[in-house]
Amino acid sequence: MITVSLKPGVRLVTNAPESLIIEAPGARMRLSRLGPAARELLQRLATAPLAWDTRVSGELVGLPRCDRALAVPVLNQLAGRRLVQFGCAVGRRQLMIASPTGGPARFELDAECGDRPVRLSRFTYIRSRHQELVLECPQRFLRLHLLAPEVISILPLLAYGCSFADLCEQIPACDKEETAEAVRFLLAAGAIGVISSAGALDEDTDPQIAPREFHDVAFHASTRQGLTDNAFGGIFPFLGKLPPAPALKPAMSEIRIPLAVPDMARVMRHDPRLATVMEARRSVRRYGDQALTAEELGEFLYRTARAQFILPPDPASGRFYEATRRTYPSGGAAYDLELYLTLNDCDGIASGVYHYEPSEHALSLVNDQPGTIEALLKNARSQTGQEEVPQVLLTFASRFNRLSWKYRAISYATTLKNAGVLYEAMYLVATAMNLAPCALGGGDSALFSLAAGLDPMIESSVAEFILGTRSPLDLQAGLVPPGRESQNAPADPGAIPPPAENPE
Ligand SMILES: Cc1cc2nc3c(=O)[nH]c(=O)nc-3n(C[C@H](O)[C@H](O)[C@H](O)COP(=O)(O)O)c2cc1C
Repeated sequence: MITVSLKPGVRLVTNAPESLIIEAPGARMRLSRLGPAARELLQRLATAPLAWDTRVSGELVGLPRCDRALAVPVLNQLAGRRLVQFGCAVGRRQLMIASPTGGPARFELDAECGDRPVRLSRFTYIRSRHQELVLECPQRFLRLHLLAPEVISILPLLAYGCSFADLCEQIPACDKEETAEAVRFLLAAGAIGVISSAGALDEDTDPQIAPREFHDVAFHASTRQGLTDNAFGGIFPFLGKLPPAPALKPAMSEIRIPLAVPDMARVMRHDPRLATVMEARRSVRRYGDQALTAEELGEFLYRTARAQFILPPDPASGRFYEATRRTYPSGGAAYDLELYLTLNDCDGIASGVYHYEPSEHALSLVNDQPGTIEALLKNARSQTGQEEVPQVLLTFASRFNRLSWKYRAISYATTLKNAGVLYEAMYLVATAMNLAPCALGGGDSALFSLAAGLDPMIESSVAEFILGTRSPLDLQAGLVPPGRESQNAPADPGAIPPPAENPE
């Protein structure tokens, strides 16, 4: 049978006629405008768990005003607020508990499959959480706590797909009643689905759900407030246990190349206006005959990626780690993204893989093996669908601990947002400089980790960007690269004054 109970720590504190007040760990909520059925249901749950017997229809035992059809949406609403949980029991033996993780949790109390074949949903996964084996159902925002080894033993067969009769035949030792209850419960939680005559589950044919990938669904459900019960935001789980990673990665080699610093006052006077740049921005995947110059590369990196200054830790403001200021924003000012440049054709700097040092505004050589450089560039080219090899490949690699030391649930989600922000900063600056920019979404992280000598568990590439000079066919009218226009050009009346470089 299925039981419904308030989650541990949830209790009804006020039972006034106009509203009910419920306390849950870390929350207190007033539930007003409840209908008589919902009120009766909650009051009943506050005293004892409710047994939900699928064999009984109509009125719920002991709840004269609460019809079963009324109870299902009310219970799912309570589940969505993480107030109730569902149990699977045979007699006094608990087999599983389904606990809602967030907002739209859905448990179909009356689900029934009879002897039709069922299969595990491709979104369901098993894992160890807080030293306990759980089955996560992110498609329903439910977590199943597996309490009985018999339930675990049927999961491999359910992965292939089978009927209740198949289960009993293949696991002769299984208790039929427990197996029937377990299958019904897994179905109610959406952990399994009924296989159609065409061999598909609903999720495989529903046009809204069929294209969605397991890891995307799991990632989204685990990283958005309201959907997850993971501790959220900047919670500093390792404060006092592990030191934070430094804001700036130490130099990766002694072979360092200082980069040209642009005259920013001049850039600000002569740069095209933001609206002009935004309207003109396009991805460009073919290049001019001339190589990108070291000066252009220096200006591009200075404008997009340099650290303007270092911010020491400031516990009083809740920042327990060193941060930096840069021209693009970054979650928590943590700037987890390191930039690596694979130079193919840069006038003034030898071909190689370099790490960009954002506070020194310098490159340090990481790898100069021609085969490695060629492989990275070939991989980049393969993502453009073009023949031309990019002049410069920029690889964004995240030092994961910069964010996971502070954020738990949202670290990697923040990394990807940071990469998006940096993409746009690079697009805009490259467009303003009349260079050829293009984001790349599918670089080879294994190849990059070998090239840079990095452990991808610690620091790994997450995005790429390619850059070069523009082909004469793509040179943009109205966008004159700074340094190539008349030195006496009038100042742009719309130019924004330069910020102070280092207020500290
Ligand atoms: C996240 C992201 C990934 C991208 N990946 C690639 C890619 O792998 N190859 C490519 O040629 N263009 C890639 N692009 C560029 C898009 O194809 C391009 O932005 C889109 O077609 C719109 O064209 P536009 O940038 O010229 O306006 C990517 C863009 C973004 C934002």
